[in-house]
Amino acid sequence: MSINIAVLASGRGSNLEAILEAIAQGKLDAKVKLVLVNVPGAGAIEIASKYGVATAVVPNAGLNRKEHEEKVIAELKKHDLDFIVLAGYMRVLSSGFLANFKDERGFFKVINIHPSLLPAFPGIRGYEEAFEYGVKVAGVTVHLVDEKVDHGPILAQATFNRAEDDTIESFKARGLRIEHELYPQVLQNIAKDGVTFFKRIKDETAEAQLNQGTDRETARR
Ligand code: GAR
Repeated sequence: MSINIAVLASGRGSNLEAILEAIAQGKLDAKVKLVLVNVPGAGAIEIASKYGVATAVVPNAGLNRKEHEEKVIAELKKHDLDFIVLAGYMRVLSSGFLANFKDERGFFKVINIHPSLLPAFPGIRGYEEAFEYGVKVAGVTVHLVDEKVDHGPILAQATFNRAEDDTIESFKARGLRIEHELYPQVLQNIAKDGVTFFKRIKDETAEAQLNQGTDRETARR
């Protein structure tokens, strides 16, 4: 089943391009109804135009979070969307924003890609912090967004090794190539089978009693 998505970006837009290219090649059954950026002149706008996708520029400069989010929501609500896809959107979304995009089970229909193996290295310097820390295995995470930063249920992760002679640039470039494969794949899995993730067990004893052996959480649209 095809999914309707809006992609939110702040910068270059290489993940947006990977998504649009996967759609063009018939590998992803989705339609990008809107590309919305908060930074005027962001590369993502040009990429969207190249693929004939509608765009909206909603600058946050001079607005408080609530004012900006209201404008973003107004743009998004013009479209019939199944999911909001964050692709390098460097703004934290408030719970007020997320409440507009709740699924029937209370999860938010907002998906993010993050350049680390969460929960390690959340924030805006995922690759840099992993590299500076000296990790041998790095990775990327696609997850549902929740009210905490880089925290929601994990949909997919992929790893890569740091090479002996890596610089931060070569390390980032390898990670980015993995992002470009992983994000369209995860979206295609969602289009095909819905949103699936392992249940997060906070209190093992209580959860074990509740679950009675169930270890997967599946939400189908
Ligand atoms: C990507 O590496 C993405 O994982 C990261 O920003 C970059 C955007 O690149 N996102 C975050 O750090 C979110 N916390 P792109 O504009 O070329 O897709």
